[in-house]
Amino acid sequence: MPSDTLTIIDNRTGKKYEIPVHDGAINASDLRQIRVSEDDFGLVSYDPGFMNTASCQSKITYIDGDKGILRYRGYPIEQLAEKGTYLETAYLILYGELPTKSQLDEWTYNVTHHSILHENIKKFIDGFHHDAHPMGMLVSAVGALSTFYTDAKNIFDPESRKKQTCRLIGKMPTLAAFAYRHSTGMPYAYPDNDLSYTGNFLNMLFKMTELKYQPHPVLEKALDVLFILHADHEQNCSTNAMRGVGSSHADPYSAVAAAAAALYGPLHGGANEAVLKMLMEVGSKDRVPEFIKKVKGGQGRLMGFGHRVYKNYDPRARIIKQVADMVFEVKGRNPLLDIALELERIALEDDYFIKRKLYPNVDFYSGLIYQSIGLPMDMFPVLFAIPRTSGWISQWEEMLIDPDQKIARPRQIYKGADKRDYVPMDKRR
Ligand code: CMC
Repeated sequence: MPSDTLTIIDNRTGKKYEIPVHDGAINASDLRQIRVSEDDFGLVSYDPGFMNTASCQSKITYIDGDKGILRYRGYPIEQLAEKGTYLETAYLILYGELPTKSQLDEWTYNVTHHSILHENIKKFIDGFHHDAHPMGMLVSAVGALSTFYTDAKNIFDPESRKKQTCRLIGKMPTLAAFAYRHSTGMPYAYPDNDLSYTGNFLNMLFKMTELKYQPHPVLEKALDVLFILHADHEQNCSTNAMRGVGSSHADPYSAVAAAAAALYGPLHGGANEAVLKMLMEVGSKDRVPEFIKKVKGGQGRLMGFGHRVYKNYDPRARIIKQVADMVFEVKGRNPLLDIALELERIALEDDYFIKRKLYPNVDFYSGLIYQSIGLPMDMFPVLFAIPRTSGWISQWEEMLIDPDQKIARPRQIYKGADKRDYVPMDKRR
């Protein structure tokens, strides 16, 4: 009779173990009973990069990487991108259900009325060097918010968490825009509460001397869709950082700073910046085959391609291609697009990429859109961090209230020197 257990025979000892299987997983702690002797620590699983380890149970985001499916709280990403807005999606991710009209109004009001920054924050943004990377500024500034909101330490108070959530989602675009204005030497533009979330962000980025900034509706919508696509992506590197740091009961601003730092890397949220650099390095369509040859020879990677989970076309990349068309219609075709399309065409036909199931990911086209909107490359990871904040916070909250969760503390397999005695300086070689 089949049963929901796994039978393990340890050939080292001949002993047999029956391990329960729940939701397609065994509990790694159940392996500890498998020992060769009384003083043996017990069997552990070795899994660098968490290739096959579930670190939590979650109800937020569902991904089927083989089929190219992404859903937030059960809703397909395609429907949310077509019919929803970012703030509505953020509410869904955070609270589990799509908001009613009055819930959305209240949520929008709260986020909007938390978008302004304490004036002292301007002072330390001023202290950054003129060519400081905006992502470095964002990481530092969001971490510094913890010193302004000491009530954020009450992480087990749901009311406090709600307040910090509005503050974080409201203030991330302002911090991001201030970092941008600092790097361009322009005066900071304050939030405009009459505008939408993305309309106001465009206002804070690009407002010049006009009394009232009017965002272009197509760019406002394009940014909103991009924000929906980036809102959450289950247990990725930055979310894992958010949960890991949050598991020590640090305040959410410090945990978001850690998550944003993880996102900064070129293998994660920094990839959209790396894609643009790569497209510029390739330079023209006819140099694409030569570039692909180099990648296949182990000289670098095709940035914006491949994903730990998607072994099929990233569903976000498909939507982003449509957004790109919308933006190019307003701003003119990005000349790097032809190189990107040619790279995609050749890679998708090439055995190297087919065998390894490498397809374009969310970052392959997003950078081209950001560039067309008028943003410099070093702002790209910042544009990823703003919407991902809603995902980070919902994952953090889920971790905090999950009775199974503990401080994150993996095991290691020690391979270093055995015990040896201290060697005095004059005896060392
Ligand atoms: N170009 C060329 N070869 C690649 C690429 C790539 N972009 N990605 C993976 N490979 C190869 C890799 O060399 C390896 O080949 P082999 O088996 O011969 O050694 C094989 O594919 C498996 O790669 P891996 O590094 O073991 O796969 P992973 O799951 O650890 O890495 C990844 C996933 C996203 C880090 C990786 O695909 C990558 O570096 N991509 C480029 C960076 C990028 O676009 N990142 C954005 C990810 S999407 C946004 C986000 O969620 O952050």
